[in-house]
Amino acid sequence: MNEKQHAIVGMFDKIAPTYDIANRILSFGTDIGWRKEGIKKALELGNSQNPQILDVATGTGDMLVFWEKAVVGDASYVGVDPSVGMLEVARQKVSFAEFHEGYAQKLPFEDAKFDFLSISYGFRNVTEKEEAVKEFARVLKPNGRLLILEFAKNESKNPFRIAAQWYVKKVLPWLGGLISGNLSAYRYLPNSIEGFLTRNEICAMLERNGFEVEVAKDFSFGVSSLIIARKK
Ligand SMILES: C[S@@+](CC[C@H](N)C(=O)[O-])C[C@H]1O[C@@H](n2cnc3c(N)ncnc32)[C@H](O)[C@@H]1O
Repeated sequence: MNEKQHAIVGMFDKIAPTYDIANRILSFGTDIGWRKEGIKKALELGNSQNPQILDVATGTGDMLVFWEKAVVGDASYVGVDPSVGMLEVARQKVSFAEFHEGYAQKLPFEDAKFDFLSISYGFRNVTEKEEAVKEFARVLKPNGRLLILEFAKNESKNPFRIAAQWYVKKVLPWLGGLISGNLSAYRYLPNSIEGFLTRNEICAMLERNGFEVEVAKDFSFGVSSLIIARKK
């Protein structure tokens, strides 16, 4: 992997021990509702009978915890992330899942293995995004569902979104820095959102790589976005 990608993963290694607590405090718990809604919708659209679920950029495995609560009956749960530090926390926290070290650009799984693939607040960190989308299409079964949650770039002038952006740019780096002891890691968040794609740009990337977008919506006036797409 390239140097930029290594630096991003190294940063997550450093903040791994305080990642969960910082996440909940910095988001005031609002991410919980966004995660639950995305998973509920994906399960309604896809094959919810004994599904094989992969969470890419799984971090500390949070998304898998929400998948497990929402699925009725048996399922298999797999998480993948390149950060050894994040995976260490995930393995201690989420006993029902198996975890693998790996990058979204080169997933260590066979073709057409999974019914669902989620990536929450991780796509921004992938340096070769189009390669990753091709990998998502490869490992999903036909009619499998891709679920993306992200802080997409958004230039709307809605006052709530502008206030939220002020919080993310001016307050969050200091608070995150205080909790984690790593200011530069939390300065990376607003910068990575500014350099990222819009929701429509992500949808276009999915459509040109074998997906049909079924859900594309914003939460909290565009602070976070949800995309669900069907592998054709
Ligand atoms: C903000 S965390 C999100 C973790 C988790 N999905 C969540 O919702 O809390 C981003 C994660 O992306 C991972 N990551 C960075 N680059 C990646 C890549 N190229 N492929 C897969 N995961 C990556 C990091 O190691 C980190 O665990």
